[in-house]
Amino acid sequence: MNSPRSMLAAAPRVALGHWPTPLTRCDRLREAVGGPTVWLKRDDCSGLALGGNKTRKLEYLLGAALADGADGIITFGALQSNHARQTAAACARLGLTCDLILVRAVDRHDVHYVGSGNVLVDRLLGATLHVVDDGDGVLDALVAITSRAEAAGRTLVTVGPGGSDATGTLGYVDGALELWTQAGEAELDVARVVVAASTAGTAAGLALGSEVARGMGGAGPLGPASDTRLDVVCVYEPAATTAATFESLLDETAARLGCEVPHPSRASVTDDQLGDGYGVPTAAAQHAIDLLARTEGVLLDPVYTAKAFAHLLACIEHGELADDREVVFVHTGGAPGLFAYAPAFEVG
Ligand SMILES: Cc1ncc(COP(=O)(O)O)c(C=O)c1O
Repeated sequence: MNSPRSMLAAAPRVALGHWPTPLTRCDRLREAVGGPTVWLKRDDCSGLALGGNKTRKLEYLLGAALADGADGIITFGALQSNHARQTAAACARLGLTCDLILVRAVDRHDVHYVGSGNVLVDRLLGATLHVVDDGDGVLDALVAITSRAEAAGRTLVTVGPGGSDATGTLGYVDGALELWTQAGEAELDVARVVVAASTAGTAAGLALGSEVARGMGGAGPLGPASDTRLDVVCVYEPAATTAATFESLLDETAARLGCEVPHPSRASVTDDQLGDGYGVPTAAAQHAIDLLARTEGVLLDPVYTAKAFAHLLACIEHGELADDREVVFVHTGGAPGLFAYAPAFEVG
């Protein structure tokens, strides 16, 4: 019988990132806030046009698209989507055209949000941007792009928002195996893994990959402990909606790999840092950005990672995490968003 690991190895894949990304220890952060030692899994350093979590998903998504004969990719996101930027970079690398359908989903209209950050990088990478207001606009743009391509005899493949389907999720099954190998080599006893979630493929892949690592007796000398928990921190939709997406991605991806879904107690989905919603900064997230920048020289982003890190800081503050065990924060990237949100950081 095929093992999940051999099923993963057999999936079409194209090389896009620099692996393994570093796993680094935050000593100065610990001096500042106490609690357990926090380690950063630096997927913001994935090596593809300012990095981020989508690189791992795109290796499988574009591997499959190339196997299907694609000569171009269409994908979707909010105007400042990191997924769109990484897709544009991957397409540039692979010689594919890239159409980005970007929705004005956040109520920010200043020059920074509209023209800097990811939007600037998308343009530099040669993507074609279709900026629309809502779902109807997305559909209209999609129809226009696909009918033009059909008339020209081209093969465009559509990658869903966030790259979160059973194929993209494989990227983080692989990412989890990489993480547990590193954690094992460093002999870490990890109580908690923390990650931001919007379309939930990153979290689902991490949960499933941790289960695969457990089935292998741990990927290294220790691997995940029997009680290691994944905190899935919602930054896009409320916990109930995100949990439903997370669970269906777990089911679909587990079926594809022929493995069990993790027991529900192994992950906890929380929206304690969602604040006023997607893309709306919070005071706790701003604090997280300042703190990690000034203690570790590491940049979080205002939309995803800062909210997830604020959750971790709240857990430390509430004494939820044992001082003698470790925590891994999966840094999923997003730093171009800092420039898009420049006015939110103005002082004085
Ligand atoms: C920087 C960053 N972190 C986290 C996420 C969340 O990943 P996922 O969509 O897989 O939940 C995203 C996705 O948009 C992102 O851009």
